[in-house]
Amino acid sequence: MNLDEIYRETILDHNQSPRNYGHLDHPTKSAGLLNPTCGDQIQLELLIHDGKIADVRFSGQGCSISMASASMMTEAIKGKSIDEALLIAADFKKFVTGDSSDKPLGDLEALQGVSQFPSRVKCATLAHNALEKAMLLDE
Ligand code: FES
Repeated sequence: MNLDEIYRETILDHNQSPRNYGHLDHPTKSAGLLNPTCGDQIQLELLIHDGKIADVRFSGQGCSISMASASMMTEAIKGKSIDEALLIAADFKKFVTGDSSDKPLGDLEALQGVSQFPSRVKCATLAHNALEKAMLLDE
């Protein structure tokens, strides 16, 4: 299996079995975001405790790239501090726009092919933009 196939499998896996999909009982922060080019949307809910992301859920509907990316992002940020999570979002956004990041991004690296398709960057970054929006909103 070559790298492209591994990446494809990873995206498929997150799309078919999205991690952290659903709702939290008592989120401390949340934000919804719409991809205006297609009408797809995502809702992100976070439970912040002691400055860390104790739990996270996402819901919504979108293409396989946006849903897989959201699933991967929730795994990447769970347990991280707010600053660390925002850094992951910033690094990932650079990564998918072709501005190479040498930071390890875990499963999110499976989305590296998106940089060749600018129209899909909005799909891949929808959850990350929702994360940034949630952090900017007051609790
Ligand atoms: Fe709508 Fe990708 S086509 S988020």
